[in-house]
Amino acid sequence: MATDLVAIRHDLHQHPELGYEEHRTSDVVQRELAAAGVEFKGGLAGGTGVLAHIPGGEGEPIALRADMDALPILEQTGLPYASATEGCMHACGHDGHTTILIGVARELINRSRSGQLAQPVTLIFQPAEEGGAGGRRMVQDGCLDGSVIGPPISRIFGLHGWPALPLGVLASRPGPILACADGFEARITGHGGHAAMPHLCTDPIAAAAAVIQSAQQIVSRHIDPVQGGVLSITRVEGGTTHNIIPESVFLQGTTRFLEEEAGEVLHTQFEKILHEVSGAHGCVAEIDWKEGYPVTRNDDAAWQEWDSAASQRFGRDAVRTMAPVMGGEDFSFYGQVVPACFFALGLCPTNTDAMPSLHHPCFDFNDDAIPIGIDAFLALCDPKG
Ligand code: NI
Repeated sequence: MATDLVAIRHDLHQHPELGYEEHRTSDVVQRELAAAGVEFKGGLAGGTGVLAHIPGGEGEPIALRADMDALPILEQTGLPYASATEGCMHACGHDGHTTILIGVARELINRSRSGQLAQPVTLIFQPAEEGGAGGRRMVQDGCLDGSVIGPPISRIFGLHGWPALPLGVLASRPGPILACADGFEARITGHGGHAAMPHLCTDPIAAAAAVIQSAQQIVSRHIDPVQGGVLSITRVEGGTTHNIIPESVFLQGTTRFLEEEAGEVLHTQFEKILHEVSGAHGCVAEIDWKEGYPVTRNDDAAWQEWDSAASQRFGRDAVRTMAPVMGGEDFSFYGQVVPACFFALGLCPTNTDAMPSLHHPCFDFNDDAIPIGIDAFLALCDPKG
């Protein structure tokens, strides 16, 4: 591997930028693409998205995707290249993903020039994966339909560094791989008053307690156990002191699911419990859903293609089938338009049992995974002939 790819990764790590603010990162990407002689278009998805095109043969055009944004976390790695921006950190390894795709661009342009690339390849450098739905904006801006640069895309692949997998191992699965993560905010309103005279009040705290208890039955009694689902109430706020029954209680939480059917049940049953249990306590409730990313669903044929390419390149033992994970990914937006496959790239160093998890203040992408990630993407780009 070119040692300067490690330098690029460390430079990106040291200069993390939050979603839609990845101006420096986008400049680095565009500088590297220009240096390699790769045709690209910047300024997408609100300004920082970059789309690159590598011409190839008659094969079906594919896209490869990297995300560029960092997280609002105070880094505690103590690394020489630790974040120079206080409170902002590449704690999800998007510095690694971006570097990998730069490495892929360099290799593919060489293959393309020597007539060794069987299909055109589009490279997507997107902003704002962490909650900003940058992937949706890249799709809206035409990154898959051929209107910006290169031909329309037939399928897309993306990867994520995975601390729970050993270095050298790759994993994916057909069907749902990452969850839909919706959020909600609810308010239960009663009638406040003196805590010594509860019979003159309508206590929203008692109602909220009953709602929270009942909501625990939704996953266990209403969701197909094979499909699974999550409903977590993560914030409860109400009241000011010991002798006042408050007027209202605020609840916040999240639902996670891998099948839309389960999501439908989670939403309707929670609303039913919220309204009817609150009503039984004399309170009224309102709820506001915050729509999260859709389920990240791997197309069977695209997964098959990935599985066989990765097995050929790395050996059958290095390529695993993983269980779905309840985290969310905005790679899902691409998968709503074209067949897609998302896969996990092992990061955990050899001879180590564990490393800091994604979104942890001590997380750092493993540089040794950069060439493996590059090879994993290149394996999907067929040589000509
Ligand atoms: Ni991430």
